[in-house]
This record gives sequence, C-alpha cells and structure tokens, in this order.
Amino acid sequence: MSDKAPILALRGVNKSFGPIDVLHDINIEVRAGEVLCLLGDNGAGKSTLIKLMSGVHQPTSGKIEMDGAVVALPTPRAASEKGIATVHQFGGTFPLMSIGRSFFVGVEPTKGWGPFKVYDRKTANEIAVKAVQDFGITRIDDGDRLVGGLSGGERQSLAIARAVHFGARVLILDEPTAALGVKQAAHVLRIVNEAKRRGLAVIFITHQVMHAMAVGDHFAVLIRGAIAADFKKGERTREEITDLMAGGETMAGLEASIEGYMADHAGHPPPAV
Ligand SMILES: Nc1ncnc2c1ncn2[C@@H]1O[C@H](COP(=O)(O)OP(=O)(O)OP(=O)(O)O)[C@@H](O)[C@H]1O
Ligand SMILES: [Mg+2]
Repeated sequence: MSDKAPILALRGVNKSFGPIDVLHDINIEVRAGEVLCLLGDNGAGKSTLIKLMSGVHQPTSGKIEMDGAVVALPTPRAASEKGIATVHQFGGTFPLMSIGRSFFVGVEPTKGWGPFKVYDRKTANEIAVKAVQDFGITRIDDGDRLVGGLSGGERQSLAIARAVHFGARVLILDEPTAALGVKQAAHVLRIVNEAKRRGLAVIFITHQVMHAMAVGDHFAVLIRGAIAADFKKGERTREEITDLMAGGETMAGLEASIEGYMADHAGHPPPAV
C-alpha cells in the first residue's frame, strides 16, 4: 500500500498569521484506505492545519500535493471539488432541516442533477436514507426527520455518509468523538473504519488517545505547531502517546506533582482558580 503516492501530502508547510508563527515545517501524508490520526493539545495548531488542507487558509510556505502533484486550494470550494471533505465537531448540519434536505445542501443543481433544480423531497429523502443505511446506520429510516432530533453520533455519521456519497477521497474529521459518550463514540469509530474500508484517506483529529488507537494506521503528534512525533500503529503504547501529547511531561511526573501538592496542602482547601 505504501508504494502508492499519497492522496494528500503536506511538504515543509509553514503558516504564520502576521508575526505569529503557528505551524512549522509540517510534513504529513495520507493514503487511500488509511487513517492518519493527528493528536495534539489545545492550541497545538490542529485546526489551523486542517484549514490549510480544506482551503480555508493558505500556507505561508511549503507545498500541498495530491496524487503526487502540487495543488493550490485557494477556497473551501476548490478543496471540496478536489474531493477533500471536512466534517466539523457537530457534523456541520442544520438542526431545523430534515435529513433529506440537509443531505443536499450546497449541492447546486448542475446538469446531472435534474430533479434537484426543483427540490424533490421524495427522491432526496430516498437517496439520503439509502446512503446513510449503506453505512450501517439502520436506525435512520425517515428522511423527513429533523437533523436536530438525531444523536451527536448519528449526526456525525450522517455527515460522513454525505461526504462519501458526494465522492470525497479525503475525509477530515475534526474531533468527531469529542462531545460523545462511549456508545456514540464507538458508533462513529465504526463509521470511520467503514470509510477507510471504502478506500478513503481519513485524517482524524482528536485529543482522545484511545479513540485514535481504535482506528489509526499512522499517528502524528503536534506540539506548539510542529510535528513532535510521527509513528505507525503498534509502535507506541497508550502511555507513551499520552506522554508525548503532554509535551514530554510524563503522566507519572504529573501524578507525582499532584500527589506532592496534596501532601503539602493536606487539610487545606485548594486555591481558587
Ligand atoms: N487567524 C489567526 N490569527 C492569529 N493566530 C491564530 C489564528 N488562528 C489560530 N491562531 C493561533 O494558532 C495557535 C493554534 O491554534 P489552533 O486553533 O490551530 O489550535 P488547535 O490545536 O486546533 O486547538 P484546540 O484543540 O483548542 O482546538 C493558537 O495559538 C491560536 O491562537
Ligand atoms: Mg481546534
């Protein structure tokens, strides 16, 4: 698999906003049928990095390549036309819209989409429900239901099914499991595996090491805007990954300092924060 050119690669990418350097010399790549997990603490630069890949921001220097050729992604639309789909934390869907409606939002009627020049509710619902059910989400069987009535996991799943239906090759998921309970998160992780099985290249951004380990083939840890570690599945333990994300400050060290604090302040209330 790794002899194929990556679908998407960043080569020596830097990003500054005026005098503020946010990303430094980023090198990552993702291939068809692989999940790259991007791990990093708050403010590490994860969102900025995905905005470079989804056409929201432009790199200050460095190259973005697709299928081995340098590309420009001047707008989100340009990225989506190249098959790069980004799903945001809450699925990017509209709570007061029906499932069928939200599935076709932003898909302007062109030659091939005759029925959608005038919104055809029945056909839209049928297509949306089928696409979602093909992903194993059989609980969604009525396209007239409002998106707002779906669980967080179902909304994420709907957004992923939609991206795949409209031909995405690269799926960028920004913290898709962050706000979800265990069962819902497991559901979304299953959908991620299904997208991978269908040959998409998936970039999965998360704080949660266990979620990353459940689906990841490759991992990159971002610390203060630089890739601090880069490894494959099975090469690091959960503890090692957690320590890396903490920026070298080991969990053991952290626990020791908390214990030290507790011992020093035994019987006193903690200070206000
Ligand atoms: N438009 C901007 N102008 C100036 N600084 C910015 C801009 N966007 C992001 N930054 C800075 O870049 C750094 C990285 O931000 P980013 O949002 O990419 O982090 P993140 O890893 O996504 O964090 P979180 O986990 O909190 O979402 C932060 O210090 C942020 O303040
Ligand atoms: Mg972010």
